[in-house]
Amino acid sequence: MSLSDFPRVELAHKPTALEAMPNMSATLGGPNLYMKRDDCTGLAMGGNKARQLEYYLGEAVAQEADTVIITGAVQSNFVRQAAAAARKLGMDIHIQLEERVAGKDETYRTSGNVLLDKLLGATMHSFPVGEDEAAADAALEKIADDVRAAGGKPYVVHLGIDHPPLGSLGYVESALETVGQAESQSIRLDAVVLASGSAATHSGFLVGLRQGGSKVPVYGICVRRGAEQQLPRVQRRVREVAEMVGATDVVGDDDVMVRDTWLGPGYGELTPEVTEALEMTAQTEGILLDPVYTAKTMAGLIGLVREGAFGADENVLFLHTGGQPALFGYAQLLA
Ligand SMILES: Cc1ncc(COP(=O)(O)O)c(C=O)c1O
Repeated sequence: MSLSDFPRVELAHKPTALEAMPNMSATLGGPNLYMKRDDCTGLAMGGNKARQLEYYLGEAVAQEADTVIITGAVQSNFVRQAAAAARKLGMDIHIQLEERVAGKDETYRTSGNVLLDKLLGATMHSFPVGEDEAAADAALEKIADDVRAAGGKPYVVHLGIDHPPLGSLGYVESALETVGQAESQSIRLDAVVLASGSAATHSGFLVGLRQGGSKVPVYGICVRRGAEQQLPRVQRRVREVAEMVGATDVVGDDDVMVRDTWLGPGYGELTPEVTEALEMTAQTEGILLDPVYTAKTMAGLIGLVREGAFGADENVLFLHTGGQPALFGYAQLLA
């Protein structure tokens, strides 16, 4: 099998830019920093999920589905972009919002991604249990039964690890695109830093780099769970994705690195390092990150630079995966 064997629809603006961050590099006084702008994929304010949804919704279209069903945290970017993708393809959309993050205020529940979900006309469901992937997926099946009973044809985007990582394929593609850009811009990449959540982005990007002939280390910064749980999850995904695209001979478990030093109290929880990363990136480069994923990941990059993980003449790429609408959901918490 190869990438082109999987059904895909066009949703993302591609290629996204690969650009230098000279001011932030100077501020940190360390390596040369670069950014891959996957926050600029276009679909309903952009982000990494546009590339992932190209493969999920490719399968949905192949199955002639008319309704997409998906789950995520209250301020999920995935459900927001899935709602936009479904609309673009003329489908109905049901989203289930999980109470994964405790004690958040009214703005968290109504602004940011939630506001956009409503604007996109998604039918909203609540999942009060919180962090339980299997139960969240089971609840999606119940919604799918109801859609079927009403004469619809549902397509479920599952959360759990037991379902094939179609979304990772979008990140195999993003990495291949990056390898080509680095080559044409004469940038020798020495390291990549990216967010490691569901592991779709991390696994896909790593497999894509190796398939594209790049051996650079990829630092996965934990944004969702601790390293002990995240490492086997990413390794499993890497094995599956490598199998899916015929790259088992170029990538393996030893290629996977995760760091949870900057996770703080947990998923979606702010830390002083997150605030520092948000402000430093905005005030040196005019680039906005998000509070849940990319600022935590940038806090990881800043921390790695301060640990001396990179040489001063090395080129380090940050993968910007988007998420900025959540800034408004976190407005009061950030203030
Ligand atoms: C903005 C943003 N960045 C990074 C991630 C993490 O990506 P993944 O779930 O593919 O690990 C997400 C996931 O929801 C996201 O919304």
